[in-house]
Amino acid sequence: MIEIRGLKKAYGDLVVFEDVNLSISSGEVISVIGPSGTGKSTLLRCINLLDTPTSGEIYIDDENITAPRADVSALRQKMGMVFQSFNLFNHLMVIENLMLAPVRLKGMSRQQAYDKGMGLLELVGVADKALEFPSELSGGQKQRVAIARTLAMEPQIVLFDEPTSALDPTRVSEVLNVIRRLAKDGLTMMIVTHEMEFARNVSTRVLYMDEKGIYEDGSPEQVFDAPVREKTRDFIQRVKSFEYRITSHSFDLYEMNGGIEQFMMKNYGSSQAIRQAQLICEEMLVNLLLPALTSVDVTFTLKKEDRSERLALLFAFPSETAFSMDAGDSLAADIVRNLASGFSESYADGENLITVEL
Ligand SMILES: Nc1ncnc2c1ncn2[C@@H]1O[C@H](COP(=O)(O)OP(=O)(O)OP(=O)(O)O)[C@@H](O)[C@H]1O
Ligand SMILES: [Mg+2]
Repeated sequence: MIEIRGLKKAYGDLVVFEDVNLSISSGEVISVIGPSGTGKSTLLRCINLLDTPTSGEIYIDDENITAPRADVSALRQKMGMVFQSFNLFNHLMVIENLMLAPVRLKGMSRQQAYDKGMGLLELVGVADKALEFPSELSGGQKQRVAIARTLAMEPQIVLFDEPTSALDPTRVSEVLNVIRRLAKDGLTMMIVTHEMEFARNVSTRVLYMDEKGIYEDGSPEQVFDAPVREKTRDFIQRVKSFEYRITSHSFDLYEMNGGIEQFMMKNYGSSQAIRQAQLICEEMLVNLLLPALTSVDVTFTLKKEDRSERLALLFAFPSETAFSMDAGDSLAADIVRNLASGFSESYADGENLITVEL
């Protein structure tokens, strides 16, 4: 359906990517991941010509949209784009947001556009907001309206650029669930996202961008579980774990708990495991480790164990003698053991490692 050949984008001397070759088939759901600044947004903007590629060609249904005389506005209608920041028309009611383009660009009657718009609002779960203005909606509702507005033009593909990263964490899943639903319905999509659990479960293909191009391209299982190339492996390793270093008795517990919550939401979806992980962490640090240590340098890591697939909390820290949990606050030790499904302590070369599995 879309064929990209030798695509390059440079801003002056800065080459964002070059020699990007990509075929997108109908029904594919492609997640685009990678470190910040590697050109993910730029690639999306080049594909739908919001930005002009420096060189290379893009074909949609065998039509070269990068040709000098291509009918850009007609071609752009084949592609929808959903932005991080919603971009709704704030002076128009929700339903008018959906009717505008179909009436103006597709010549649809107002009645037809209204009926279609209402159907789409129904689909994304905000039909009751049709007559309200965007300012009256939550971020999650706005983004669902933005998705419905894009669908009103019946695009062949929808491009999403971090559709949930401007949202309140509690609003992320309602938007992801709408996208999930669209994937089930067979809509072709390309989604730049940092939501790794979502990327793994919803997409049929994952592109990892780095080194000025598409660095690795594979199935979600391949890219997330067995990445082939070095930079992909490093990136996946990094996003699969959360690390927090504690170097003082008066460390910022709120910041750490916030980090745990964000990491868990992104990687494992929301669940009671978040609260359990936070509780274990708090008991371990505040009631067991810190009182026993005179100089504090604890590295806390939260990650999924490779073999057991269980969530593990690792506490690594130096001390002069081996640390034993049972030497301290026994209530805290009991709480940790009750919440944990596995527990181990090791000591070698002055370094302790405590592993608590959830
Ligand atoms: N309009 C522009 N003019 C000049 N440089 C730009 C422009 N847009 C993007 N860049 C540069 O191009 C590179 C790629 O940016 P881009 O926004 O595509 O990255 P990204 O992968 O989407 O990053 P993030 O994950 O932070 O959103 C960056 O170095 C950025 O500074
Ligand atoms: Mg971006």
